[in-house]
Amino acid sequence: MITVDSTLRFEGNFTQQEAIPQEAIDAAVTVLQHGRLHRYNIATPTELSETALLEIEFARYQQQQYCLACASGGYALQLAMRAWGIKPGEPVLTNGFTLSPVPGAIQAVGGTPILIETTDDLVIDLTHLQTVIERTGARLLLLSHMRGHLVDMDALCQLLEQHNVALIEDCAHTMGASFNGKKSGSHGSVACFSTQTYKHINSGEGGLLTCNDEQVMARAVVLSGSYMLYERHEAAPASRVFSSIRLDTPNCSGRMDNLRAAILRPQLQNLDNNAHRWNERYDAFANALNEGTESGSEAILLPQRHRHAYEVPSSIQFRIPRFTDPQNQYFLTECADRGVDLKWFGAADPKAYTSRYDSWQYMEHAPLPRTDHVLERLYDCRLPLTFSVQDCALIGSVIVQVEKSIA
Ligand SMILES: Cc1ncc(COP(=O)(O)O)c(C=O)c1O
Repeated sequence: MITVDSTLRFEGNFTQQEAIPQEAIDAAVTVLQHGRLHRYNIATPTELSETALLEIEFARYQQQQYCLACASGGYALQLAMRAWGIKPGEPVLTNGFTLSPVPGAIQAVGGTPILIETTDDLVIDLTHLQTVIERTGARLLLLSHMRGHLVDMDALCQLLEQHNVALIEDCAHTMGASFNGKKSGSHGSVACFSTQTYKHINSGEGGLLTCNDEQVMARAVVLSGSYMLYERHEAAPASRVFSSIRLDTPNCSGRMDNLRAAILRPQLQNLDNNAHRWNERYDAFANALNEGTESGSEAILLPQRHRHAYEVPSSIQFRIPRFTDPQNQYFLTECADRGVDLKWFGAADPKAYTSRYDSWQYMEHAPLPRTDHVLERLYDCRLPLTFSVQDCALIGSVIVQVEKSIA
């Protein structure tokens, strides 16, 4: 007779990403062997560095004219706002539900963050956005596609156009995603991506910035620390564009190096395939949670994806509004005891990568009651590609089992 342990558990490691592909390791070894790690260190005048090649390839992938590789996603956000022309103290609209590098970037460039409410589907609240635009006259939205959830980009762009508000996209969680067939990161003036370890392509740290505006891109290149070597950028405007900005744009060093670029290029080739693999894992997890399935739970609510959104979910979020405070604590502890590492967005004190907007005490903020309500019982779980589809279904089942055990 087989005895079945009815207490489900999971044994995997939530922070273990896949190994760097062999092709990327070989490319990194080549860079180490020739020793030219600095992006402007070339052996012959016609050599294109790994960094320059990555920029060409990522611009092509994004169907944008220009791309700049830099030190991190947060740094790319700062560059984007500076290159766009932010003024000291200027209000910058952004999501109340995002991660700390986003308001941090606004603070770093001397802007004043103004936070916008979040919907139950974890996207920016367009009604609240409109009200705040009309009240403040802000000229810029730094939109964070937080956790990869895409708002109705057509409605958003229409609203911004009507009010003459520029858009910079934080695509740290939407590399490979699209809305209505248009790549995430091609709806605004500038888009910023991260290649930090937990993102869709992994170089430990790194950022990418794309745009179609030659003035903005020329300023971003010089700001990133190009010295006067901007002609070694291929996915950048012509030299004549730099002549008007080269002497009045400061060098705020934050370049990418050839080692990181070398390991990113092969990963970019595999991004669309991996996007599919992330979706398979998300679907298996969501299916296990879902109220519509036999094994799921009606108490667990998943955000609804817009029908035109193609997302690349490297994590999953869900809410359990029915929990009281003690039930919430028990749920987190019990899931952790069964090997399921959840983050809770409602904690008053910031923990690891997660923080609530009211913990960013260096800035002022108006209360966001709708966001407070959403975050209060919002949970977050990584979906590394080292997990199989079956692993993801199992994790979902552990969560349902724990939730149902709480009366
Ligand atoms: C939503 C969001 N935006 C921006 C960033 C900044 O990226 P980086 O860590 O590369 O600076 C992150 C990083 O986690 C993020 O989660």
